[in-house]
Amino acid sequence: MAFVTIRRAAAAAVIAVLCAVAHPSAATAQGSVNPTASSVKEQQLLDALKPDQRLSGRVSIPDPGASSLIQPEGRQFRAERDQNARIGGLAILGMLGLLVLFYVVRGKVRMDGGRSGTTITRFGFVERFTHWLTAVSFLLLGLTGLNITFGRALVLPLIGPQAFTSLSQAGKFVHIYVSFAFALGILLMFLLWVKDNLPALRDIRWFLQGGGLIGLGHPPADRFNAGQKLIFWSVVLGGGAIAVTGYILMFPFAWTDIAGMQWASVWHGLIGAVLFAVILAHIYIGSVGMEGAIDAMGSGEVDVNWAKEHHSIWTERELGKAGKGAAPAE
Ligand code: HEM
Repeated sequence: MAFVTIRRAAAAAVIAVLCAVAHPSAATAQGSVNPTASSVKEQQLLDALKPDQRLSGRVSIPDPGASSLIQPEGRQFRAERDQNARIGGLAILGMLGLLVLFYVVRGKVRMDGGRSGTTITRFGFVERFTHWLTAVSFLLLGLTGLNITFGRALVLPLIGPQAFTSLSQAGKFVHIYVSFAFALGILLMFLLWVKDNLPALRDIRWFLQGGGLIGLGHPPADRFNAGQKLIFWSVVLGGGAIAVTGYILMFPFAWTDIAGMQWASVWHGLIGAVLFAVILAHIYIGSVGMEGAIDAMGSGEVDVNWAKEHHSIWTERELGKAGKGAAPAE
């Protein structure tokens, strides 16, 4: 009995929709649904979302884009964004898991010969300033960006709506204004270090020996080894792409239409999250993961034994320059 009733109701609904779509007041000349007609039903609007169909009406405000009520690409855009959020979240959690595992299995990478007591200048002030300008701004942008993507699900339940609103509003300002420092940092970094990051044949050997991290000896390296070159190009190209897509989003419709805005949004989020995961590995190896590495970006002076192990070619060259480089540590 109930089954018969459901069938009748379904048939009536289909007939009603067909009548409404066929009715002149509810359909445009092309046969699509007129979303502003008084008899239009919500189901009609949803049924109209077949590929290549969109629901649009008329507007009297200057923005013609506002006349588009529903467009199938919008749903596709949302699905892509949701998928990217999953990929980005997995990349970050996966990287954190890998780093913890690496630390437990391999432990800290120590200097084989211990500290020599003599140091060599690795980075000057301008290089260290550029590094920290880029690093601090990237971390601020990354954290506020992650709050935009995951904050509602993860932070809101922890701190409540009032605090979350204030935090997110402040985060949005940080995300916008700090972007300029980041873009400048990327540009300076590129200019300062591109000459030391061009690919070389010895980079292949560096990878084959696991970068000296897995007990196969220290492969020779110049100022930057192959792993660092990967980080450099990820930062310059990934960071550059993040900046370009970010400015497209910051000035809506200035250079592109809605499809371009959706494209920029999708890639901005995806590249940002993946680069964040990559940078976690860099932070690990530049701090707790390797003895002596952080000195390079702190005082700028590294122990000669550290330099010989990780950058043998560069160290020999620097030490060979008469009267420069090596100095007794204090
Ligand atoms: C707390 C965070 C960070 C720490 C502790 C850190 C540490 C370091 C250290 C010690 C070096 C020098 C390595 C050497 O002497 O060979 C370095 C280099 C570098 N850092 Fe960072 N860094 C951090 C964040 C970042 C961020 C956020 C970025 C970019 C978005 C970045 C980009 C680079 C690049 C491109 C280099 C040169 C290539 C390389 O050594 O991998 N760093 N960092």
